[in-house]
Amino acid sequence: MCENICEGRDEMKKITPGVPWLDTSGKLIQAHGGGILTMEENGQTVYYWYGEDKTDGYRPLVGVHAYKSTNLLDWEDCGVVLKAMDNKSEFEIPYFAALYSHLSETEQAAIFADLHKHSAVMERPKVIYNTKNNNYVMWFHADGPTATSDANYAKAKAAVAVSSSPTGPFTLLGSYRLDHYGGEHYLHNPGMARDMTLFQDGETAYIIYASEENYTLYISRLNGDHTMITSGGVESENYKPVEGQDYVRVFPMLHREAPALFKHKGKFYMLTSGCTGWHPNPALYAVADSVMGEWTNKNDPCVNDVKRTTFDSQSTFVLPLDSENGKYMYLGDRWVPSDLANSRYIWLPLTVCESGNVKIKWADEWGL
Ligand code: GAL
Repeated sequence: MCENICEGRDEMKKITPGVPWLDTSGKLIQAHGGGILTMEENGQTVYYWYGEDKTDGYRPLVGVHAYKSTNLLDWEDCGVVLKAMDNKSEFEIPYFAALYSHLSETEQAAIFADLHKHSAVMERPKVIYNTKNNNYVMWFHADGPTATSDANYAKAKAAVAVSSSPTGPFTLLGSYRLDHYGGEHYLHNPGMARDMTLFQDGETAYIIYASEENYTLYISRLNGDHTMITSGGVESENYKPVEGQDYVRVFPMLHREAPALFKHKGKFYMLTSGCTGWHPNPALYAVADSVMGEWTNKNDPCVNDVKRTTFDSQSTFVLPLDSENGKYMYLGDRWVPSDLANSRYIWLPLTVCESGNVKIKWADEWGL
């Protein structure tokens, strides 16, 4: 009897964008700038939502938090799957020792710089599954000060971590500068990687990131392990990337970030935001016949978005719901700069019409 009542309630459950969202234990979900990994487990579709844990605001960092769901509405807390570190002596505690005790002191120092609660920046984590190695690969925007600058976004790298389980713990492998086209724009500061996402098309995976001081988006192909870009990145020896094969430079000087990609009926779609920090601005989408381009910019997909602020949000991911029928879900963040822990999730219906046009509509609440 009781079960019937609960089932009935479940059917009534809806996504309510912008409203505080609690996990199944009643705690506020902390998965900002996140993305969803869809897996089949024991014949059932399971979703893992990974994002920035902003419990303590911008800093101290907590790490990357994961949640699990079978219906995209009820999210079970899987904990912090990539933990930030308070100090180097934590390499001695069992959690970090199990992950990093095989490293030299110099190597540990590099890991620490990317995980340091009080100076690192860990944003927009995304996780994909690598069938070759049967493991989970996470990339995130790894930033923070450098030896020559104390600015929060001086490092401008992308970091990669792996785990044999979707719920971690993830082992950080390192952080890297990515591709640069060799031309004049930011040749003095090549390979920058800030806002980023991952996109997997069959066995091939790509990292999409804001580069050249956020002026230009790049798409770089990942290797078979998905743990490095195929060119090796600008810091690698004999760096000789092939444009169009290893990477492409998308929208030069257009100043776009917060990329989110999806595939619909053989075409590729990319949603981006403008670059105005935590403050929302109009979204823009682009279409291509191949991930490596040529990308054609379209327009703002938001319908009746009177303020032209992507319904007061910034893109972070697009999840296919019923791809055959053009039904997707837009995932965005409504950042609250003064209280980042209380930033809200804006999940809205995204439709690809017969014409190929993309539309995102506001809904106070909607069923999946
Ligand atoms: C935004 C970016 C966010 C965060 C923020 C910090 O442009 O999309 O992920 O980095 O800036 O101001």
